[in-house]
Amino acid sequence: MTEQQSATREALFQPLEIRDMHLRNRIVMSPMTRGFCPDGVPTDDVVAYYRRRAEGGVGLIVTEGVAVDHPAALGDAGLGENNIPLLGSAASIEGWRKVVDQVHANGAKIIPQLWHQGVMRKPGTGPYPDVASVSPSGIWGPLGRMTSIDPKSIPADPNIGDPMSDALIEDTIEAFVRSAVNAVEAGFDGIALHGGHGYLLDNFLWEGTNQRTDRWGGSREKRSAFPAEIVRRIRAAIGEGMPIFFRFSQWKQQDFRATLADNAAELREVLMPLAVAGVDVFDASVRYYNRAGFEGDPASLAGVAKKVTGKLSMAVGGVGINQGMYDRDKAAAVVSDFGPLFDRFNAGEFDLVAVGRAIIGDPQWTTKFRNGDATEPYNMENDGILS
Ligand SMILES: Cc1cc2nc3c(=O)[nH]c(=O)nc-3n(C[C@H](O)[C@H](O)[C@H](O)COP(=O)(O)O)c2cc1C
Repeated sequence: MTEQQSATREALFQPLEIRDMHLRNRIVMSPMTRGFCPDGVPTDDVVAYYRRRAEGGVGLIVTEGVAVDHPAALGDAGLGENNIPLLGSAASIEGWRKVVDQVHANGAKIIPQLWHQGVMRKPGTGPYPDVASVSPSGIWGPLGRMTSIDPKSIPADPNIGDPMSDALIEDTIEAFVRSAVNAVEAGFDGIALHGGHGYLLDNFLWEGTNQRTDRWGGSREKRSAFPAEIVRRIRAAIGEGMPIFFRFSQWKQQDFRATLADNAAELREVLMPLAVAGVDVFDASVRYYNRAGFEGDPASLAGVAKKVTGKLSMAVGGVGINQGMYDRDKAAAVVSDFGPLFDRFNAGEFDLVAVGRAIIGDPQWTTKFRNGDATEPYNMENDGILS
């Protein structure tokens, strides 16, 4: 490494304070569903899996998606019916406490990603197979778009049920708040909300699934009202000290080419209600961090999110790996040219860098990256192993 390269690399190893959370560096393990929690309870293997990543030097871990404590939150995610973690039962809270303790003992911080599948939940599956799936307008999304979803799982009729009633909306908000309070009890350092990828919060944000004309829909700001209310109520319940992260995405599993916003001004309309409600960090979920968020401005989506909200932002997508997620039929190779990452970080586009598959492939990734050492590749054939 030249002196200049090692200086830019070290910039990613400066600590960061977000509210009361102290991070030793800017590298974050991105949330990744694994499906190794029988009956929703993290096992000793799960404890060891996260411990290894903390030992490997990461600053913050965002856990795999954890089902919100709501009967319609979770269906079969293709990983066995009951293997997605919960944060509701006493056993699940106890299981997470063991994960948190081991991560803390190794110098990292950890926050759970609260996940409600909304229209993506497969009806008739999950811990409560008899309950109906919930969604803002009873619409799965427009059919016939570019998607990675198995055709068997795409409904023939996009009208999949009733729009959520006010009572059900309130019930769901309370479930998010209850889960956040359970996270505090388990010792987590903050909260992450899954607001992307075509799941419930995103179903409210996106016009393709939100056709409401009441206070929860009608304009970009109003489509943000439901996730913003969840943020506001979580903030009121957990206090001022813990940070709240919010993941959003333009793309949806139903429609890879969907957008919430087509320019920075529109993105501001989407994100400001969330920022005002209490979000500290926007996690812009894209497949390639090194791409412009919008035409005409080279800034990444994380960069634009930071610019329009004045909040912190996190980049993700293809760090250390040559294929974007969903290009997973191709073999993924290690990428060791971090020039564009350093350039964008040094330009102040984002404050944190999330790394997904590279950290599954190599628990020691963060330390090796810091030292400029070779890392192990990610092989999706091994997704069925918790190594
Ligand atoms: C096996 C796997 C599971 C994932 N599960 C989730 C998840 O539960 N929640 C989420 O927001 N993103 C999930 N993702 C997306 C990652 O967080 C990340 O955004 C994506 O893999 C791109 O980063 P990468 O190129 O560094 O892997 C998952 C990705 C993979 C590979």
